[in-house]
Amino acid sequence: SRTVHRAPGGAVTVGGIEVTRLAEEFGTPAYFLDEADFRARCRAWADAFGRDADVFYAGKAFLSRALVRWLDEEGLNLDVCSGGELATALDAGMPAERIAFHGNNKSVEEIERAVAAGVGRIVLDSFQEIVRVAHIAQSLGRRQRVLIRVTVGVEAHTHEFIATAHEDQKFGLALAGGQAAEAVRRALRLDGLELAGIHSHIGSQIFDTSGFEVAAHRVVGLLKEVRDEHGVELSEIDLGGGLGIAYTSADDPREPHEIAKALSEIVGRECEAAGLRTPRISVEPGRAIVGPTAFTLYEVGTIKPLDGLRTYVSVDGGMSDNIRTALYDAEYSVALVSRASDAEPMLVRVVGKHCESGDIVVRDAFLPADLAPGDLVAVPATGAYCRSMASNYNHALRPPVVAVRDGGAKVIVRRETEDDLLRLDVG
Ligand code: LLP
Repeated sequence: SRTVHRAPGGAVTVGGIEVTRLAEEFGTPAYFLDEADFRARCRAWADAFGRDADVFYAGKAFLSRALVRWLDEEGLNLDVCSGGELATALDAGMPAERIAFHGNNKSVEEIERAVAAGVGRIVLDSFQEIVRVAHIAQSLGRRQRVLIRVTVGVEAHTHEFIATAHEDQKFGLALAGGQAAEAVRRALRLDGLELAGIHSHIGSQIFDTSGFEVAAHRVVGLLKEVRDEHGVELSEIDLGGGLGIAYTSADDPREPHEIAKALSEIVGRECEAAGLRTPRISVEPGRAIVGPTAFTLYEVGTIKPLDGLRTYVSVDGGMSDNIRTALYDAEYSVALVSRASDAEPMLVRVVGKHCESGDIVVRDAFLPADLAPGDLVAVPATGAYCRSMASNYNHALRPPVVAVRDGGAKVIVRRETEDDLLRLDVG
């Protein structure tokens, strides 16, 4: 986060507020999100892609009413992938035409709601869905703008669970073998659909632009096939999200303008060579916009040294507020933030309070050897896929999200209470 500093007394300040004060006011664990940083990242993406492209923020990374309003104010569009995300977006006032609806198994009810609301586009993910969306649109007297999601066969260099462009997986229709071309054929025949273009998402936490370039190249190849077969020039290609961020200092992320330049060059060049009008490009960054803007603040509870090996530091949250370490072997860093310390560094594993040994927040890190119960530690870069993937495992109460801005702090998603848990338990 851009506005993090260490105050003279040693405590870290965020947006002008000492973390010790934040902990007193909002409790721990809690996520603190830097609103100015979030807005700056939205603008960086919008500026990088300019007027001939659209940026859709991927709501799955983190979504709340306040965040939707910030997106709206910054002129971004929004990608949602469930009825719940759609409801949040609409409730917060995001204009429906700026919403894209994704998912490999949208329910009939979800599709009906999306079409009735007038979402700008639905991304079709299967042969069944092509027919389903067409029928629903027709029965509502609409012609729904759609994209077809294809798998381009790129091996993205990322964790298997978040790589999505190889063919052996649940998303999309394969370019190879002609599924994608057949999907286009079917979609063009249906009156309820206005086929705007092709969508591809190759995966997440990707650091080099070459995978996106190969995807763009193959998608343009399909546009050319479609033109040759049907005489139709599709007007849009969406190249998905996936740009990686720095979780630790070892990561070297690309900037939005680098990816924008790479994509517009390759699409422009290849379309010209094929005699196609250059389509509008869109992208769907989630993590790259919201990930770096938040950190999680924890209080240290117990400390267990294992001589010659490492020290286990237990904090008051864990896999219920950050599942990414357990799920993807994700790497995070951690820092003591409530005071300064000159003590020697000690090798630690930061773990949570859940009932399993895989409940790890930060696998390997260094913290000062004088670390003590009651100290506050912060784990940076938890804005994406942490609160949005949080669970109630062990009946944990999901932490609040607090927006920090100009020396002020405001809860945008409140902490869960035991009453919240018990309200659902009606037996
Ligand atoms: N567009 C589509 C169609 C997607 O499926 C995704 C992510 C995105 C955009 C946004 O990707 P991003 O720019 O945030 O990488 N839970 C995992 C990531 C799964 C992402 C799934 N789809 C994680 O914690 O790393």
